[in-house]
Amino acid sequence: MGAAPAGARGPSREGRDESTEDLETMDVATGLLSRARRMLPEGPKALLRRFLVRKVAPYDEHELGVYVLQRAEEFCKGRGGHPEALQAVRLRKSILRQRHLEHTSEAHQYLQTAFMPDYEQSLFEYYQQQQFLMLLAFLGYPFRGPGCLCSHVDPFLVASSRLPGIRALDYGAGIPYGLIHLLRTCPEKIESITIVDLDLVHTELSEYILSQLAPDKEITFLRITDAESVPDLGGRAFNLIYGKDIFEHVHDPERLLRVMLDRAAPSCLAYFDIRDHGAKYLQHVHPQLSHLSRVVCERSFKSDGQVGGLSEFVRNA
Ligand SMILES: C[S@@+](CC[C@H](N)C(=O)[O-])C[C@H]1O[C@@H](n2cnc3c(N)ncnc32)[C@H](O)[C@@H]1O
Repeated sequence: MGAAPAGARGPSREGRDESTEDLETMDVATGLLSRARRMLPEGPKALLRRFLVRKVAPYDEHELGVYVLQRAEEFCKGRGGHPEALQAVRLRKSILRQRHLEHTSEAHQYLQTAFMPDYEQSLFEYYQQQQFLMLLAFLGYPFRGPGCLCSHVDPFLVASSRLPGIRALDYGAGIPYGLIHLLRTCPEKIESITIVDLDLVHTELSEYILSQLAPDKEITFLRITDAESVPDLGGRAFNLIYGKDIFEHVHDPERLLRVMLDRAAPSCLAYFDIRDHGAKYLQHVHPQLSHLSRVVCERSFKSDGQVGGLSEFVRNA
């Protein structure tokens, strides 16, 4: 075993692990904060909610985040890595302190872009160079506050209430919190899962988590190393297709969308994040996406509003 990284502390003089103590302190602080919110008079509380709390989810995001962190520790051990490094106070603090994390992550991308002028031509290398920062950001999503995972989980909850059995495609999944939540709460609903993502550490971790959760299910991971390629999705027919924060990262989002829709079952629910993503910057290589909803409707899908901030499309056989 190598030396513990800076910030990873061993047992303190009192024999208590300081990193655990620090986390407990943060949990207490989070608890106090939400109690304070509950105790506020109605006026300021409504104001606070309007600005800070989009929605209180019917599931415990914090608990889902802690679950994934625990699985990350096992995954690390299995790889012969150094799981004790995951206890580093500075790492835990970054995961919990989102503003700091977002700034660092974006700053890193700006640096990369500055030093990789042809980054758009070498997207896989670009992602490879930031893969642990991406993992850090993904691990932090559940700790962003109430409603933070609604775009990840709500579409899957809606689909599980409408479909007898789910055959899901999640393209550019990151850490697929929605599928992890379903496998933990109603595994009987899942018939098959197909995930496509770049061959990066977060994809390996996601594969580990899903296969541990459901060793008996049909779970396929297509890990790609060429960001220009769209893999063959085989003869599968999906009745749930999900793509969040993926289309703006590819050079030809319409081609990707068409390949995904080619594999839609006659009755299918689709959830896509296809709003325009602002200016072309960092790895938003194709930010203009709103025209894509026309492509979905050409395939006999009907646009059905929004779920968790994603556009919902429904096709009934
Ligand atoms: C901004 S993240 C979004 C992750 C996840 N969908 C979410 O919303 O949390 C973009 C994801 O797309 C993946 N990705 C980027 N380019 C890709 C490509 N050409 N093919 C497949 N996945 C890609 C990245 O590895 C990453 O997981």
